[in-house]
Amino acid sequence: MPYIRDGASKVSDHWVRSPLLNINRACQTCHRVSETEMLARVEGIQERNHGLLQRAGAALMDQLDAMAAATAAGATEAELAAARELQRKAQWRLDFIAAENSMGFHAPQEAARVLAEAADYARQGQVSAMRVTTR
Ligand code: HEC
Repeated sequence: MPYIRDGASKVSDHWVRSPLLNINRACQTCHRVSETEMLARVEGIQERNHGLLQRAGAALMDQLDAMAAATAAGATEAELAAARELQRKAQWRLDFIAAENSMGFHAPQEAARVLAEAADYARQGQVSAMRVTTR
């Protein structure tokens, strides 16, 4: 959070809102580039993260469809156990990034890693459910 003056003291601003609403004080003390450039860097990171979040989400929905189809075709709980385990791993990772509240900005590489794992687990789970259906 940016610093503000309170009488003779310098304290951090506790007005909880996005620091992007105050780029000048929140960022430009360290980053000597224009506000427009600063905002563009943040938005670039967030757009890439959002794209990965959507793709991992689509993978998970495809997995759920495959599991529903397997269940409709008579698959047992035991047969779907591996797919459920993969679903849990994918969902946990997706929720973690969806809930972190900076749209990937605070740790872009870590967010991308976690979303890549989410998409991979969901697709593995989809394949696992499809194998049960087509046995
Ligand atoms: C106390 C100093 C400081 C403040 C304040 C600060 N940063 Fe940074 N920031 C850094 C340092 C140090 C790095 C890592 C070195 C680098 O990559 O430039 C960094 C890295 C970044 C990066 C990734 C590298 C780049 O330049 O694209 C972005 C984006 C960024 N900061 C945006 C912001 C935004 C937006 C704010 C305000 C909300 C902000 N920073 C406030 C010091 C600061």
